Amino acid sequence: MVSPLCLDALAGDFPGMSDQLNQQLICETMVDESYHVLLTLSACAVTRSMRQNSVTIPTSTLIRRMQAFEAEYIEVWQKKLIRFATCVVSEVFISDYLLLLSSSSLVQPLHRQVVNAHRQDEATHRLIFREFAKFVYQDLTPSQKTFFASVLPKPVRWFAAQDFDCWDSIFSELGIHDVTEMLHDCRAYHQTRIDIDYSGIIDLAMELGIIATDFGLEAFGNEGLLD
Ligand SMILES: [Fe+2]
Ligand SMILES: [Fe+2]
Repeated sequence: MVSPLCLDALAGDFPGMSDQLNQQLICETMVDESYHVLLTLSACAVTRSMRQNSVTIPTSTLIRRMQAFEAEYIEVWQKKLIRFATCVVSEVFISDYLLLLSSSSLVQPLHRQVVNAHRQDEATHRLIFREFAKFVYQDLTPSQKTFFASVLPKPVRWFAAQDFDCWDSIFSELGIHDVTEMLHDCRAYHQTRIDIDYSGIIDLAMELGIIATDFGLEAFGNEGLLD
């Protein structure tokens, strides 16, 4: 998701990103993201070989919800801003998520190390994407600003949604069939809760001036992020 967005940004698809420093940061981000894919694929290949299985990992909830939301809009700029908002939110959140995995004794040690290496880069991406958001937002047209503000809170819920559909698919592929009720209960428990710290996105929205607008307040309020 991030690498295609970086390619679009390099091609000049987002305003405010064409100066030399931003172009360099975009390229460095792409190098990091390619390295993360390589690290993850390598660790998964080791695990698949050691455990003699080849589980298919389904598309994440975040990506599926972003694509479904994007499909509701016709204009190319709307689709691009949906992808941009989703990347900003996920890049702001992902280092916290990776910290949970890399510090859990329940996660296999090789994967813990891989996630920790990934996390260290993402701690920087979190700052970079906040800056990207500021550069892009300030150069949007008024109607694009309103649209971006209405989209920005949505990926918070998409990111926070636990990947129960993925686990359903993984368990059934592994032949573990007696977990349906457990997944159902977990899904119900997490339906309305947001178990992540989303203060970083609220701070960003305040810094952009989004929370100070009626449309921004409404958008964040509708997602239950101002309670
Ligand atoms: Fe990454
Ligand atoms: Fe990243």
